[in-house]
Amino acid sequence: MMAELTHASDAFAVTVPGTDEPLRWSIDGFVSADGLRFESVSSMADLTDPEDRARLDEFAARYGRFRDAEGRSPISPAAIRALPYDDVSGQLSAMWVERATSYDRFVSATAELAPGTMVDVGAGCGWLALRMSEMGWSAAAVDVNVDVGDGLGAASPFADEVFLARAAMERLPFGSNSIDLVVFNASLHYGADVRGCLDEAVRVLDPDGTLVVMDSPVYADPLAGEAMVAEFAAHAEAEGRQAVELAGPGFVTEADLWALQDNRAVAHVGRHGDVGGLVGAVRGAIGRRRAGREVAKRPVIVARLGGTPTQTATARTKRARR
Ligand SMILES: C[S@@+](CC[C@H](N)C(=O)[O-])C[C@H]1O[C@@H](n2cnc3c(N)ncnc32)[C@H](O)[C@@H]1O
Repeated sequence: MMAELTHASDAFAVTVPGTDEPLRWSIDGFVSADGLRFESVSSMADLTDPEDRARLDEFAARYGRFRDAEGRSPISPAAIRALPYDDVSGQLSAMWVERATSYDRFVSATAELAPGTMVDVGAGCGWLALRMSEMGWSAAAVDVNVDVGDGLGAASPFADEVFLARAAMERLPFGSNSIDLVVFNASLHYGADVRGCLDEAVRVLDPDGTLVVMDSPVYADPLAGEAMVAEFAAHAEAEGRQAVELAGPGFVTEADLWALQDNRAVAHVGRHGDVGGLVGAVRGAIGRRRAGREVAKRPVIVARLGGTPTQTATARTKRARR
């Protein structure tokens, strides 16, 4: 008989970030066998790499200031539960209509998966992880921004349903081959190194696991992505706000997705929501003429792993040392 779970983290192999070194829960944080402690922040464990923490703190502070300047208000537990179908604040209703379309595509593309463990990476207020938990998944939501207003801290009323942790997508605090589903929802483009973040997700995935990337802007030509980031910064500045300085490019390229397809652990990569054929070509041409550059696609990418266990973090470390 399975032991009953007593903490939302019990379903997960929690590790020192980016490694397979196990951590166990102890009083007010996680601790490694060597005595390395990961204390709590905003009532959740801070499982970021201590060496990277200053950079992540700086990013989270700037991100919070940018969102404040945008006029976003604190989000209530009821408003989190209503997403993505109902934007209770009414501030970004048009955007949430699009987000709901991606979410529906994601749900139908993963409908045949038996619920297991899932991680919502760059989870924001954790709405998607909460929905997955309601569908029977053991869900974890991780983000570097744990603000209690509209960051992951806002999800703390759901801490019994979803394992909430501060963690970075560059170094996930989960053991190799231990997770059934990893989702980057509107977050992968924030990664310091998009391909490195995808490799890190593949590391933690079960050999038969699934990786989903959705609502990130994807460009064939990186110059078009760079132009979009510059336009966004100029637009924010014109409105008296300072765009957040990003650690990475701020977009995903088709080449990043090809690299994912080339990963030997990945068996198949599917795309949902791309408008192809003549209609797609015409829409692309109209968008290019209006923007003066390629416009981003926002497909839902579903990568199925192919039963080959990924190298464990320990093996990778040993190889790097040789
Ligand atoms: C546009 S929001 C998307 C939030 C949520 N997934 C959603 O769909 O509403 C992007 C999120 O990525 C998070 N993020 C940025 N860089 C990150 C990193 N290196 N590791 C983890 N999360 C990160 C931000 O703090 C933010 O919450």
